[in-house]
Amino acid sequence: MSVNLAGSRALVTGASGGIGEAIVRALHARGATVVATARRQKVLERLVADLGYRVEAVPADLADAADVQALPGRAGQIDVLVANAALPASGRYDSFSGDEVDRALDVNLRAPLHLARELAGPMVQRGSGHLVFISSLSGKTASPGSSLYSATKFGMRGYALGLREDLVGTGVGVTTVFPGFIRDAGMFHESNTELPKGVGTRTPEQVAEGVIRGIERNKPEVDVAPLSLRLGSIAAGIAPGMVGAAQRKLGSRDLAAELAKGQADKR
Ligand SMILES: NC(=O)c1ccc[n+]([C@@H]2O[C@H](COP(=O)([O-])OP(=O)(O)OC[C@H]3O[C@@H](n4cnc5c(N)ncnc54)[C@H](OP(=O)(O)O)[C@@H]3O)[C@@H](O)[C@H]2O)c1
Repeated sequence: MSVNLAGSRALVTGASGGIGEAIVRALHARGATVVATARRQKVLERLVADLGYRVEAVPADLADAADVQALPGRAGQIDVLVANAALPASGRYDSFSGDEVDRALDVNLRAPLHLARELAGPMVQRGSGHLVFISSLSGKTASPGSSLYSATKFGMRGYALGLREDLVGTGVGVTTVFPGFIRDAGMFHESNTELPKGVGTRTPEQVAEGVIRGIERNKPEVDVAPLSLRLGSIAAGIAPGMVGAAQRKLGSRDLAAELAKGQADKR
């Protein structure tokens, strides 16, 4: 174990979102004090009021480089980072403006890297800590309309695996979590996209359990998805052309178009 969650202090980004809230609650239930950050202060304050103690709201815009730089100082001594905030960035490559591309890169990739770099140093000095990155199965398998999102989520995986190697022997662990389609809350649920028959989903609470498991067992990677999707992502790593063709046969283009439409307000 890289850190004992009871009595630790955790920073969770994207805490106003579907999965972020579940992660805040799970860490809190394990005895951590949680610093919850996102832009929507009112949503954070509701969560703080609901949990009541050992939780603080620190609003920040992760698309703003100055906010990202200031966040570690405002959060105080942090033992666990969960870099969870992201934009869905779904849609064909040519449907994004230059600013939209930059914002997705900033929130999904630049901010997590800077926060991890800034927070890892003091953790190494103390000989204990954990950095968690919330990627996506789209960080292992690309599909139509996922080019920008997958760029950020594959990039996150590469950074996290390299960082983990850099930190071997320091007492600081690194875990990347790969959710599939998440029901009940969050960016997929809110898009109202209907999945093809037989494609399974998981809940925000299961993602949060994956985060806890990753920290407590210092696992490099945790998938939170049904076996069929996990196997698909392994196959995509070996034979991406074949998996792309199979996805097209199963209607991936229609699914991508529906998803991009349902997430157009989150660019
Ligand atoms: N839901 C799924 O099916 C699914 C599947 C795979 C992976 N994931 C990953 O899981 C993570 C959480 O997703 P979710 O489903 O919970 O999405 P969500 O409900 O849309 O939440 C996204 C979070 O990111 C925050 N955020 C967005 N832009 C921000 C900015 N500029 N500055 C600061 N915070 C910002 C939002 O807060 P504010 O709007 O208040 O700023 C919100 O808290 C993401 O990394 C996502 O890629 C989700």
